[in-house]
Amino acid sequence: MSENISGQKLPYRNPDLPVEERIDDLLSRMTLEEKVGQMMQLDARSGDLDDLIVNRHVGSILHTSPDDLPRAAETVNTKTRLGIPLIIGDDCIHGYSFWPGATIFPEQLGMATSWDPDKIESMGRATAEEVSATGVHWTFSPVLCIARDTRWGRVGETFGEDPTLIGELSSAIVKGYQGGANATEPLGRDAILACAKHFAGYSETQGGRDASEAELSHRKLESWFLPPFERVAKEGCGTFMLGYESIDGVPVTFNQWLLKEKLRGSWNYQGTLITDWDNVGRSVWEQHVKPDYTHAAADAVKSGNDLIMTTPQFYEGAIEAVDTGLLDESLIDAAVSRILALKFRLGLFEDPRLPDPERIKVIMGSAEHRQANLELTRESVVLLRNDGSLPLNIENNSSAANTIKHIAVIGPLADDAQTQLGDWAGNSGQVNWMPDGHPREAITTVLDGIKAIAKKTGIEVAYMRGANIVNIVPDPEGELYPDGQPRPKVAVPAPADQTMIDEAVATARQSDAIVTVVGDVVQLIGEGCSTATLELLGGQNALLDALADVSRETGKPLVVVLVSSKPQVLPPSVVGPVPVVASLRPDGMPIHCRESEGGASALLWAPSPGMEGGRAIAEIIFGLTDPSGRLPITFPRHAGQLPVYYNQIRGQHGDRYADLTQDPAFAFGEGLGYTTFEYDDPTISNVPPSGVFTAADTIHAEVTVTNTGKRYGVEVVQAYVGDLVTSTSWADRELKAFRRVELQPGESRIVSFDIPVADCTIVDPDANRIVEPGEFELLIGHSSRREDLKRAIFAVA
Ligand code: NOJ
Repeated sequence: MSENISGQKLPYRNPDLPVEERIDDLLSRMTLEEKVGQMMQLDARSGDLDDLIVNRHVGSILHTSPDDLPRAAETVNTKTRLGIPLIIGDDCIHGYSFWPGATIFPEQLGMATSWDPDKIESMGRATAEEVSATGVHWTFSPVLCIARDTRWGRVGETFGEDPTLIGELSSAIVKGYQGGANATEPLGRDAILACAKHFAGYSETQGGRDASEAELSHRKLESWFLPPFERVAKEGCGTFMLGYESIDGVPVTFNQWLLKEKLRGSWNYQGTLITDWDNVGRSVWEQHVKPDYTHAAADAVKSGNDLIMTTPQFYEGAIEAVDTGLLDESLIDAAVSRILALKFRLGLFEDPRLPDPERIKVIMGSAEHRQANLELTRESVVLLRNDGSLPLNIENNSSAANTIKHIAVIGPLADDAQTQLGDWAGNSGQVNWMPDGHPREAITTVLDGIKAIAKKTGIEVAYMRGANIVNIVPDPEGELYPDGQPRPKVAVPAPADQTMIDEAVATARQSDAIVTVVGDVVQLIGEGCSTATLELLGGQNALLDALADVSRETGKPLVVVLVSSKPQVLPPSVVGPVPVVASLRPDGMPIHCRESEGGASALLWAPSPGMEGGRAIAEIIFGLTDPSGRLPITFPRHAGQLPVYYNQIRGQHGDRYADLTQDPAFAFGEGLGYTTFEYDDPTISNVPPSGVFTAADTIHAEVTVTNTGKRYGVEVVQAYVGDLVTSTSWADRELKAFRRVELQPGESRIVSFDIPVADCTIVDPDANRIVEPGEFELLIGHSSRREDLKRAIFAVA
């Protein structure tokens, strides 16, 4: 029960007093146990929520079920001495993942495919409105990791491979979540705290293996991995989550350079830090860099961590560390003050932002949010190949030649509603209260989407699964761990099933067009689920080969829809033969998968597209929506080509493997529409009379883009900068700006960019970001491929 002085409000409960005074008052009333508990975020699924709140004095919980959300607040109010409200967080990373019927958007990599910060901000807003109604105050989103080794299981959670794109989109989503508030301003009632994670370099795995030691110099961090974090730190993202990995032998949770010199130091970050899952415990039992929980807890506090996620032993560890003199209690006070400041700033003492059943009813999965989701998802699908078969001709006119009257929809993911949502949604494995996932009726699969359009136009649709992807089998190590706990089952690739393929082929033969939907499943992605290969698993390649044979023999178009969390290596039956060297066109430029002979008629990629995925994909197939997504990440032709990100440091012997081209299948920025665009040469209009810019200047560049086709279309105009000669080795070119432009057939538009010279930096060997004098090239065009870019030169003094 809350303390009281003869019926008067205690100072910390008085909203009229300054926050600092309230914090000092509350801190002075707290025992060491209560303070240590305040630093802990524990797992609400542990079974005994009251125990966490009453006996462990936790300051925060996560993974709280819809039933437990109201109960938690009630327990704080009625059973704790000081009544300090909980701050409740969860992974609402593409919508409120674990609330049945919430709006589930594409995963982050899907959102990034839109290259549309405005729509991503709207997604953040819609998510915040839904989440805040439930009593959750904080989302562990966005992920700012750079996806380079795509064997890593969490690639789909990222915004892709480029720091500028990641920075732009992260800034937008944070704005949406927090409703524009920065790290020290009060959050609106319909806003939630954002969390930039996983600070920093978590994605730089070895062999794609999750959470391995990251080989990262300060220079490499400063060059690529830190800039997006620096941006959102300075813009006021409320919280930061510290990654699992260690760098130079030091787990991030104890990394003074990252936490003190960079984040709290030169960036002056005022927000709250939280560890990732059991970072403090892992330093003891996994990384073996701390002898026990007492030392681990002491060092975590000394390094400046505020909230400690899911290390129950932190409680005893930190108390003992203070009792034995290993840790000064004033450091605990400092961390607790920061947590309390966050709670006061959220106004939780006055209004604990409890679940609001009325608001939930109105807002959860509302028509408005579904519409925002559909609009983003339409842009989150990328057309990678098209021989002109798309859009399918659905004129309802039986006399029209090649009009489609029968469509075969084939493939294991054509009608797999939950898989389409991707990881961190419903029954993806993190929580136990949604065993069947999100409501089926809230999700449109590709089959649903095609059927809905077909119904209106009198087209017949036949569906066959055609292949399985994985079988779930008991872990060969045994059903139980040594401590008696059950081991989760494991997924093994399913064998190709000839009967299923034969049925699919027969259905394909009876159709006018074949749409096949393949990809990955949640057992092959996510935390601890990296893959050694990037091939389509199970019977999928055999199915694609068989359907490609039908298409070749009969001339029926084969449209392949890849619904996968990350780039896959596609078989020659989809992308054409894999050349040993890049095959050359007559003009000497390489022939890309998007235009090579052989392979499927068309290829679409929809990275875990969420609830509206099937509808958006079907609209694109039938030409009701023009495809406008662009790759936020490069597709290799073979896993052995990794890494294939476009902005690699220049300099190597030759440009190919002895047995394979180094040319990727599809490069960063690529993506087709149903029309064509032409670019004139870019011009720089504000060159100073001296002929050279200074670091304080901004380059104003213009380029004329023309829609040379017969349809409306959207082009994502991309501007890259390359520094021609650098004092230390550097990337050949880097994205600096981009813009989505809509053009009617025949329309030309001047697209302009303002690029500060201060952004045209390299990072020197001491990890200083500098602009070097000399000549630069500005490259503007359709994708990161040199042959897609037009050039202008400028000089910097
Ligand atoms: C571990 C994951 O790495 C992190 O991204 C997530 O936010 C936390 N678990 C909480 O679920």
